[in-house]
Amino acid sequence: MIETTILNAAAGDADLHIRAAADVLRRGGLVAFPTETVYGLGADAFSAEAVAKVFEAKGRPPDNPLIVHIADIMYFFEIAETISPIAQKLADKFWPGPLTLVVRHRKQFPSIVVAGLPTVAVRMPKHPIALRLIRLFGRGIVGPSANLSGKPSPTTAQHVYDDLGGKIDIILDAGPTTIGVESTVIDVTTETPVILRLGGLPRMDLESVIGAIVTTREANILQRSPGTRHRHYAPRAPVELVRIGDNEDFAAALARHRGKRIGCILHSLSSHGVMGNLDVIAATIEEYPGLLFESLRALDQRGAEVILVESIPEVGVGEAVMDRLRRAAERA
Ligand code: TXA
Ligand code: MG
Repeated sequence: MIETTILNAAAGDADLHIRAAADVLRRGGLVAFPTETVYGLGADAFSAEAVAKVFEAKGRPPDNPLIVHIADIMYFFEIAETISPIAQKLADKFWPGPLTLVVRHRKQFPSIVVAGLPTVAVRMPKHPIALRLIRLFGRGIVGPSANLSGKPSPTTAQHVYDDLGGKIDIILDAGPTTIGVESTVIDVTTETPVILRLGGLPRMDLESVIGAIVTTREANILQRSPGTRHRHYAPRAPVELVRIGDNEDFAAALARHRGKRIGCILHSLSSHGVMGNLDVIAATIEEYPGLLFESLRALDQRGAEVILVESIPEVGVGEAVMDRLRRAAERA
């Protein structure tokens, strides 16, 4: 056990805290930091020992590689072996932002970062504190989501503390993240890029720049996406999806679980305060991604024995949200 300090990175003396965090990174320690998507667990990307601590703290399988977070496009040129015109276009258009590019790497990374693969995932987050931390540190930091492996990603400093308190040095707290779902990961090593993970950057936005694009699931190439082999995004309680606005489907699910503590995450449906139900209601669908991981955790904490989630339309970021929900609903 080590002592985990939560530092307020949104207050007046924020820069002092960010400097302290950069020092911890320099000493090979672990710092959780805010990004626009979810909180990340930072460590020196060029230190095998520091990165080993990240895998240890998260309980992450060693075959699941990490994203290297950068603050300047120059780092990308140093890391990537070649940058295709498509990769360049995407970086120009969407960085900083919720997009991760998988490229072939030059050889300088400890193999633990990339799980022995010839490729590396790179992202420039759109969050002033993340960017400041990386700039002060002076080189790339790894940044997996700062949760225990298999748990929902953290969208607040408290979520990070709940999972990793006692295992990491510092949590930089800047309040809830704005997007609430992880970055979109796209492999640009092949002539036709492939989406490895749906995420905060909607598919439509990518397509507006590089044309039609498929996911690994659609192309049936699961092996290229190590992370998707593992169980993910699951709270303790089983999750069940309910069709959008379908009162009968919802009533049937409620009946099926009668007598249990039922957690509900809804936007158009209502359980009309059925006794003992633990409702979370999003006012708008735009609020949904931000609310999702938060609600799954909160309902777990409040002792939900099953969690019913109303589906949302698979448009924009809704596609990534439904992808996460389906995976949460897949019981191992
Ligand atoms: O929004 C995000 O991306 C957050 C924030 C903190 O930046 N980070 C994040 O990292 O979600 P993580 O480690 O939880 O997810 C990284 C995903 C995994 O699915 C992993 O398998 C995939 O990226 N990945 C990493 N390197 C890869 C590579 N070389 N080839 C294919 N997939 C890779
Ligand atoms: Mg993760």
